[in-house]
Amino acid sequence: AENRTFTMIKPDAVENGHIGAILEQINSSGFRIVALKLTQMTKADAEQFYAVHNERPFFGELVEFMTRGPIVAAILEKENAVEDFRTLIGATNPEEAAEGTIRKKYATSIGENAVHGSDSNENAAIEGAFHFAGREMF
Ligand code: CMP
Repeated sequence: AENRTFTMIKPDAVENGHIGAILEQINSSGFRIVALKLTQMTKADAEQFYAVHNERPFFGELVEFMTRGPIVAAILEKENAVEDFRTLIGATNPEEAAEGTIRKKYATSIGENAVHGSDSNENAAIEGAFHFAGREMF
């Protein structure tokens, strides 16, 4: 739907104990949690999820990183969800992320950048369906 986005709290932020703080910031910024789970991607999962990046020089590193530990996957609902969530998380590179954004606070590098946010309504639907069955969405 137009008003949903998909996010992952990535392995770095999970390892560093930031699940609670990040979910708190998401909720207090007006997003409703539609679906939520702790899960771990296999190599095949990550290669499929990030297939659009498979020619990039960082693809191997990205797959390695995203599979090294559990992630929190979630579907979020809010008016203008995709754009507003990307504003909330900040730039891909935490050094360029605005003050107060999730990546500014919790990311360590351009690769290990704490959170994912879908870049379009179409990808939000694809990515949400990749991780959740219909009966897991509320
Ligand atoms: P995200 O935008 O969520 O999805 C693509 C990911 O690729 C991105 O987050 C980073 O984790 C990773 N990525 C993007 N650019 C680089 C880079 N230059 N080096 C390493 N990883 C990158």
